[in-house]
Amino acid sequence: MKKHVLLYKKLSPALLARLENEVEVTYIDDPASDSLARLREALPQAHGLLGASLKLDAALLDLAPQLEAVASVSVGVDNYDIADLSRRGVKLTNTPDVLTETTADTGFALVLATARRVVELATWVRAGQWTASVGPKHFGTDVHGKTLGIIGMGRIGEALAQRGHFGFNMPVIYHSHSAKPAVDQRFGARHCALDELLREADFICLTLPLTKETTGLIGAREFELMGEDSIFINISRGKVVDEQALIRALQTGQIRAAGLDVFEREPVQTDSPLLALDNVVATPHIGSATHETREAMARCAVDNLLAALRGERPQNLVNP
Ligand code: DGY
Repeated sequence: MKKHVLLYKKLSPALLARLENEVEVTYIDDPASDSLARLREALPQAHGLLGASLKLDAALLDLAPQLEAVASVSVGVDNYDIADLSRRGVKLTNTPDVLTETTADTGFALVLATARRVVELATWVRAGQWTASVGPKHFGTDVHGKTLGIIGMGRIGEALAQRGHFGFNMPVIYHSHSAKPAVDQRFGARHCALDELLREADFICLTLPLTKETTGLIGAREFELMGEDSIFINISRGKVVDEQALIRALQTGQIRAAGLDVFEREPVQTDSPLLALDNVVATPHIGSATHETREAMARCAVDNLLAALRGERPQNLVNP
């Protein structure tokens, strides 16, 4: 008898066929729309789950005694209690690698958009306000040659360093658990303490995963260490930052601008003070959101899940 998979992420016809070839699939579109009622009802039959953006807590897992594997269509695994999944014997997989370059592209889009005030000025043009050539009031700041500070030197951090070093001639400094000699050599990068990075970098890019240790890592003290020309970019998770402290830093001119793809609460509240600030470029968590990359992530998740349900070791197993 085929195993049963609950799918809560829309797949392309080709990937759905690949999944259905081996397992029975129940698709639950937007499980949050009925407060997870359909998901709860289906969980007792589930051997596998495939989807993203769902907090899989103990109460939900208790409903799924047959569960063998969860394939997350994401690199971040902050929606899961890995230790609890391991205790229950449930394999967790994610989708690293395939989204690295696309997410770094998003990071650089935010670097350029904030420095050159692209969104603010494009809005200004559309509003019919471009009536004479622009002056210093509308000038931005250079990207090339400025210091790029990367917090978290994982795959995405490296891809950012590559863009900064080779594309924009930027000195690269980074903070991570330990120095990475290969990164230092390839990108002329320098490992440093967090405070040093905050003081020295012109662009401060956050790429750390959300964990107990990184929650609230960047707060009022950290924004105080940044210079008034600093630009802060977050493409990791909103909760790594104290959002109220960020808002204050932007409102008081403690830092120049922020490019934010992630927020403490998502979707970001429409009345968030962040959205009222011209020096904020806010995007809706689109780090990996291209047709090609989302398809590659979904393919990776399908392969991981099928391998796990066959009793093989999936390529991207997260549990230790
Ligand atoms: C990821 O893959 O973790 C992205 O941030 C989407 O959640």
